[in-house]
Amino acid sequence: MSQLDNRLDGLLELRKAKGRFRRLREYDTSRGSGLTDFSSNDYLSLTTSDELRADYLKRLNDTDVILGSTGSRLLSGCTPAHSHLENRLCDHFGAPAALLFNSGWDANVSFFGFVPQPGDWVVFDELVHASVHSGMRGSRVPSARRLQFAHNDPESLAAVLRKIAAQPSSSAAPPTVFLALEALYSMDGDFAPIPTLLDVFDQHVPREQQCVIVDEAHTTGVYGSQGRGIVHQLKEGAGRDDGRVTVRLMTFGKGVGCSGSVLLASDTVRSFLINFARPFIFSTALPVSTVLALESAWDLLSSEGGQRKRDDLAAIVAYFQELLAPVLARTPPELLRLPDPTPTPFPGAPEGLSAHPHSPIHGLLSPTPHALSAFLLARGFIVRPVVPPTVPPGGERVRVCLRAGHSREEIAALVSAVAEWVDSGTAEAEAAKAGRPLRARL
Ligand SMILES: Cc1ncc(COP(=O)(O)O)c(C=O)c1O
Repeated sequence: MSQLDNRLDGLLELRKAKGRFRRLREYDTSRGSGLTDFSSNDYLSLTTSDELRADYLKRLNDTDVILGSTGSRLLSGCTPAHSHLENRLCDHFGAPAALLFNSGWDANVSFFGFVPQPGDWVVFDELVHASVHSGMRGSRVPSARRLQFAHNDPESLAAVLRKIAAQPSSSAAPPTVFLALEALYSMDGDFAPIPTLLDVFDQHVPREQQCVIVDEAHTTGVYGSQGRGIVHQLKEGAGRDDGRVTVRLMTFGKGVGCSGSVLLASDTVRSFLINFARPFIFSTALPVSTVLALESAWDLLSSEGGQRKRDDLAAIVAYFQELLAPVLARTPPELLRLPDPTPTPFPGAPEGLSAHPHSPIHGLLSPTPHALSAFLLARGFIVRPVVPPTVPPGGERVRVCLRAGHSREEIAALVSAVAEWVDSGTAEAEAAKAGRPLRARL
């Protein structure tokens, strides 16, 4: 073993000792595998859509375009296909400008790594995605000017903003205060109360100093008219764009069933990213084959068929919650529970959006997520454990993701396996084995 491997091995052993070792696991979820996937972000089941596959293959056959992109967008990789998709998405989302990225990760690292300047402030929900943190860490904004607030908590946001207001301004130009939110959080499966948080922001930061970024990774394609997301739906419901959310990230690896992302922002921000964002400048552009797949996916998402998939998903989520509720009601919360729900995220039920929409993500908090995941896998369900550092200590869980293509039978079978985990005493026995016995029984 080389000296390097030796050193790295030591670090891996430390990680194993903390129970945080990650390894790749291959799952075959194809038809006939006997496994039902409840872990993927393919919320609308587009990756297995026959209609989408047929349209994509036809599109590939009908065009004589190259399959790859051959270079970065600034060199040879800006093909008519890329420009067409970018313009289409700009129109579709009603944005001033749009810029494609190879992933949501790249877009967040680019935006947060390069747009905020040293005198600015970045305020973020404590549960924002790792890509936002990576971007901020690589930025020129000192860590003392990057402040988190408690998850979805308007009071905590107000406290952070008061702290900022109390700081003497160190530069002649007033700083921009960036506010980073996610429309739907990937681990707790709860929606940001965007209107309330924006009102708090308005009370403490003058409009001209605001820059609000909403990451719609888990809502793209899934919510809003023709899959345009939550922010668009809030605007449509209000009947006007109050211009408060100026940057949106829509990603394509989850509900859209492909990969890549588009950042929607002003023309100036777009131009700034093209000039300064290293992940954009120094990376080969999305393959043309992916761009074509995205054209097909957005055709489907904008059609009645797309709306049917969104409706199917909403029905499946409602069914799952209906079956799960009595199981959780009879289970000690130390063994299994859902995170506390956010109070009504969208009060006043804006047109086209419920005041409390259903979420396809359910983080079932459990002291023994690995054992629960293995128990469910033995019964044919892929439900992955999520442990620190992905979630804070104490937030260990299994993450159940529902899809439009799940059948009611699959949902009922999964919930009865969860009920078996609790009712057979396995949950309690595993908790005791892990040194986490029920408090009530100590
Ligand atoms: C909220 C959020 N933002 C960004 C990303 C990154 O997107 P991508 O998978 O396209 O890199 C993810 C992916 O997990 C995410 O959950």
